[in-house]
Amino acid sequence: MARIVVIDGPSGAGKSTVSRLVAERLGFQYLDTGALYRALALHLVRKGKMPEDSEEAISEAVKDAEIKLEKERVFLNGEDVSDTIRTPEAGHNASVFSAKKPVRDSLLKLQRDAGRYYDVVAEGRDMATVVFPDAGVKIYLDASREGRARRRYSQLAEKGMPITMEEAIRDVRERDFRDSNRELAPLKKADDATYIDSTDMPLEDVVAAILLEAGRIYP
Ligand code: DC
Repeated sequence: MARIVVIDGPSGAGKSTVSRLVAERLGFQYLDTGALYRALALHLVRKGKMPEDSEEAISEAVKDAEIKLEKERVFLNGEDVSDTIRTPEAGHNASVFSAKKPVRDSLLKLQRDAGRYYDVVAEGRDMATVVFPDAGVKIYLDASREGRARRRYSQLAEKGMPITMEEAIRDVRERDFRDSNRELAPLKKADDATYIDSTDMPLEDVVAAILLEAGRIYP
């Protein structure tokens, strides 16, 4: 079986940056599962689907979505949607549609297959609890809500998509609520995951802590 490091946590805790660096240092593939949910939500929105549509309608609509991750690019039915899925709206839609059973079911195999054939660092919300419960290394990366909102605010400003600090805090609060309170695969720390609060930790220290743990399990 491939070697698997999982990193779960709420929006804005720095999972992507940390996971990418950990993957690079370990020589593992980086698996960004949020990108899969974002791409599938984009497909559903384009097909005119609404969150309140029936499970059957959503189930039917996901059938003709072929999603592929190649290196760090995401393809939806052959179209490179890597940039399109990075807007706040795409994140919101991903969070809303990811609560739906057909959406989660359709992405499960794709995620597990990635971990079957390659050593991976997989980041998301339910990596340790649902997708890779047997992963050797399980990390729950957290940070204060203010810290996460600040990060989100600067990231979007950098990309030329400015929001106010109030909007950033509201966004983070809403996303936390939705991702943690849904019925299926909610965001939560697995009992056997290591908790890291990155609020006041330099990035390099977070990466070093995870590499230390990975080094013990996968020498
Ligand atoms: O990590 P992200 O912001 O790209 O994720 C977007 C949304 O996708 C997130 O708010 C909830 C959903 N998601 C999920 O339900 N399970 C995952 N493993 C990853 C993301």
